[in-house]
Amino acid sequence: MTLLRPFVEEDNSDLLEIERSCPQGNEKIAEAMDKSPNAVARYDMYDNWKVFVAVEDNQTAGWVGWTLKEDPAGKKYGYLTEVIVHPRFQRHGIATELVKKVESDLRENGASYVYCYIFEENTASNAVFSEAGYQKMGITQLQASSVYKKADIAPEFQVRTAEKSEIPQIVELINSYNKDRAHFVPFTLESFMYHLEKIPDYDQDNLWVALSDGKIVACTGLWDLSVIAKVYYAREPASMRILGSVMNFIDHFTRMPKIPAENELFEIYYLTDYAFTPNEDEAMLNLLKRLNNFVLEENRYYLTSLITPDDPLVPVFKKCKPLVENWNIYAKSLDDGTVDLEPLYLDIRDFVM
Ligand SMILES: CC(C)(COP(=O)(O)OP(=O)(O)OC[C@H]1O[C@@H](n2cnc3c(N)ncnc32)[C@H](O)[C@@H]1OP(=O)(O)O)[C@@H](O)C(=O)NCCC(=O)NCCS
Repeated sequence: MTLLRPFVEEDNSDLLEIERSCPQGNEKIAEAMDKSPNAVARYDMYDNWKVFVAVEDNQTAGWVGWTLKEDPAGKKYGYLTEVIVHPRFQRHGIATELVKKVESDLRENGASYVYCYIFEENTASNAVFSEAGYQKMGITQLQASSVYKKADIAPEFQVRTAEKSEIPQIVELINSYNKDRAHFVPFTLESFMYHLEKIPDYDQDNLWVALSDGKIVACTGLWDLSVIAKVYYAREPASMRILGSVMNFIDHFTRMPKIPAENELFEIYYLTDYAFTPNEDEAMLNLLKRLNNFVLEENRYYLTSLITPDDPLVPVFKKCKPLVENWNIYAKSLDDGTVDLEPLYLDIRDFVM
């Protein structure tokens, strides 16, 4: 008999341990995040969130987390952040029960649908959500540009961190870039400052701009995800392991991209709050090059963006030769209505997988 109950602080060590034994993927490739010391730190970024723990035979068997959001028209919807079940208790229907708990709670709180992101290679989780009646709505891509050598910035662009007085222009640019995207709530100056404050270690000093003829034409934030979670490959395909050792060897002679070894924790920066004026691709590219140099100075391996394939950033980021991994977007209506998530705005807080 499985008991579902709200998370309490004393569950933290069990959650961290379960997560360690539950990488997301398949027998060839699986990824994981180390969220120690606080398994639920990510939730403080949201205003409304819940975590429920499943207990079976007096042991913590798994958990699920979710958050309630609202779009600009006042329509409520939910994001299912994660569902994890200890290997010892898998295939007992616990994830399915936890997912149902999320759906009933969201329904009671007026949400009309729920969505989530699942790594394309995550066989078990893709199966759970398909079985539970979720529809695949498209994909989002995690694109990681390997940072290993300095890039030259074109002299026609002024690229630097933003000044406080420039924040209103940045907000305007972000609002116009995302205006027709589902889930995007246009920022006011106040709500943008609140957004910066809610994301740990992310503030106006992490905002960068590119100016052309003295005008801001591109902007982005750079958020250090490692303050909440460090990433690692729990299983790597043989081809990746071999390539990694070859590159490490050549790196003794000339700088080469790094491929982290299996179980090696690495720290990544996410691009967030990026936007650029139409036809200012070159300005955005030069901004990315400047960030490449910053990330290089910080000794990190990757500059990472989360983008949907229709995003104007895709052709620009492609010039940084990223490694691309697909995440499926799933959604389920909770009121028999239709769910339309295209084009979709990606909320960076959702990507602490
Ligand atoms: C994904 C996960 C949560 C599933 O938990 P679970 O409690 O074993 O899932 P359920 O028992 O509710 O499975 C429901 C159905 O999904 C399908 N399914 C579940 N695991 C599967 C697997 N490994 N392969 C194929 N189908 C699977 C089956 O149809 C299953 O029904 P069945 O057992 O009657 O055949 C668990 O495997 C896990 O924690 N994985 C690692 C962490 C992760 O990837 N979490 C999701 C990311 S948010």
